Amino acid sequence: MKYEKKIKLKNGREAVIRNGNEPDGKEVFEVFNRTHAQTDFLLSYPDENSFDPEQEARFLAEKTMSPDEAELVAVVDGRIAGTAGIEAVGKKYKLKHRAELGIGILEEYWGLGLGRALTEACIQCARDAGYHQLELNVVAENDRALSLYRSLGFVEFGRNPGGFNSRVSGYQELVYMLLKL
Ligand SMILES: CC(C)(COP(=O)(O)OP(=O)(O)OC[C@H]1O[C@@H](n2cnc3c(N)ncnc32)[C@H](O)[C@@H]1OP(=O)(O)O)[C@@H](O)C(=O)NCCC(=O)NCCS
Repeated sequence: MKYEKKIKLKNGREAVIRNGNEPDGKEVFEVFNRTHAQTDFLLSYPDENSFDPEQEARFLAEKTMSPDEAELVAVVDGRIAGTAGIEAVGKKYKLKHRAELGIGILEEYWGLGLGRALTEACIQCARDAGYHQLELNVVAENDRALSLYRSLGFVEFGRNPGGFNSRVSGYQELVYMLLKL
């Protein structure tokens, strides 16, 4: 899906939220690896990245052409500061009303408003694609993310006490949330 919006950050600077494109492949690959090393709240570790930069570029091109999936980047001063996307839960009739949200921002850009802007952009894309609900799961200790999602209307519908098994801290409880669109 295509998306583009200029926003003002909490520090007064401008940022652009837009769909990632093929030429962004290498930078998105690097940002993915850095965000996944900086926090233990994401699903995978950098050594589990199944893409190389060329595959990432193809993935971005595919998502841009997709009518119902999106991979967005937040650009600050010409650099990619984070990414977020929506993915279909399934293509079958009984599942195709559901999409899943994922987001990761480089630590040096936290607290500037990019998380809110990227999440709002994903909600817009999910509405435009015709989904009925947007879902996510979040580690229960991830206060920043939980507070962001709640403030945007996501509600908790369950928990998995051993949802993640962290290399660092062992089991992490996952909170399942959804937003009716
Ligand atoms: C979670 C994450 C996406 C938030 O992005 P961000 O750019 O820091 O968030 P924003 O600056 O837009 O802040 C959004 C909200 O977060 C909450 N928030 C911000 N700082 C916070 C803090 N220190 N503690 C608790 N909540 C906080 C506030 O509710 C804030 O709302 P506001 O806009 O009314 O102030 C980002 O920190 C991140 O990528 N973290 C690592 C990866 C991750 O955890 N991804 C989510 C997996 S489910």
